[in-house]
Amino acid sequence: MRSLIDIKELSVAEIEALLDRADDIIANPKKYAEVCRGKKLATLFFEPSTRTRLSFEAAMYELGGNVLGFSEAQSSSAAKGESVADTAKTVSCYADIIAMRHPKEGAPLVAAMNASVPVINAGDGGHNHPTQTLTDLLTIRREKGKLSDFTIGFCGDLKFGRTVHSLIAALSRYTGIKVVLISPDELRVPDYVKKDNLDDCGIPYTETTDLMSVLGELDILYMTRVQKERFFSEEEYLRLKDSYILTPEKLRSAKDDLCIMHPLPRVNEIPVAVDSDPRACYFKQVLNGKFVRMALIMMLLEVEA
Ligand code: CP
Repeated sequence: MRSLIDIKELSVAEIEALLDRADDIIANPKKYAEVCRGKKLATLFFEPSTRTRLSFEAAMYELGGNVLGFSEAQSSSAAKGESVADTAKTVSCYADIIAMRHPKEGAPLVAAMNASVPVINAGDGGHNHPTQTLTDLLTIRREKGKLSDFTIGFCGDLKFGRTVHSLIAALSRYTGIKVVLISPDELRVPDYVKKDNLDDCGIPYTETTDLMSVLGELDILYMTRVQKERFFSEEEYLRLKDSYILTPEKLRSAKDDLCIMHPLPRVNEIPVAVDSDPRACYFKQVLNGKFVRMALIMMLLEVEA
């Protein structure tokens, strides 16, 4: 039995197989309509979510399975003090697979160590978000036709941005990747993310506070929200929240085939005026997230089409 807590638990070959499966699901959805008949997914969300929870649920329904769970800690026995370990043991009695989001880093790992069914990390604090990374990789591969030989800029809150940490970890294993890290000094990528991935894999990277000085070099721009919920100080959040706003005017200096990504939700960093730009890919990411989660559920439940 296998869980998915960190994207690095998947080999490059396994990631490619998942993306191939997702492409096949997109092309042949009827083939997959019954493969999880009789199986149940539990979505245990201790922190708010729209895309991740609903795409997991839609994924399981489209595989013919069923879904149970909760969308806030207050409606579960966590509100009475139940531990993550006991929650995982309990839910293992009712479901075949668990997707868990939690504000505490490491909580899904604790769940996986105590569950008797596979556990998927659906985002843990400011740490990791491996299924968003699978979503992002599928989007990049479908837009660019490859997962190698491009320059990607990560912009915004790179300190708390778990989607950034996981995507850097995944892309560090591909060839010809150059990374540009664009953030205020206070929100730089943690040193451990740089050391364990970029440094260890020999990926060239630069850091800057100035988006406009690098925008023209980028093949992919991965924007992120400054995450109010991770700040200890309201004053610091207010000072940093609008550090980067990607307007149509700024995009005039970007490449014609730039791929603009964002895990969403967005606040001010991408105005709706950018949505009609053919380079905007963030709502494609939303849709791709469902297909790649279908592929992942199949893999962890060991079911075939
Ligand atoms: N991208 C993402 O994790 O979105 P949600 O917080 O809405 O799930």
